[in-house]
Amino acid sequence: TYVIALPCVDLKDRACVDECPVDCIYEGSRMLYIHPDECVDCGACEPVCPVEAIAHEDDVPEDLNSFHRANAEFFADLGSPGGASGVDFTDRDHPMVAALPPQEH
Ligand code: F3S
Ligand code: F3S
Repeated sequence: TYVIALPCVDLKDRACVDECPVDCIYEGSRMLYIHPDECVDCGACEPVCPVEAIAHEDDVPEDLNSFHRANAEFFADLGSPGGASGVDFTDRDHPMVAALPPQEH
């Protein structure tokens, strides 16, 4: 799966959403999250993010491992909705993300 990391927090450019053929990039309150079970590893989202927030899970820098976990754990009690367009998760974030100080861009 691909993973969204720190540069997305408090920015949410959303260019990635339009590229994903399986609609598996879900918007939370402060960032977007890729569903690890729905992502088909097409990689289309990675180059369009203007702040390079997206990487394949094998390429996520070690200091951003917490985002690897956060992308997966965000969906722990949400299951697999099967598409982001029909749901609204903008009232929530992974606890690690929610606890981050405001990010300047
Ligand atoms: Fe975030 Fe980049 Fe997508 S800022 S919303 S990962 S285009
Ligand atoms: Fe979608 Fe990006 Fe995965 S475009 S299928 S989230 S690699």
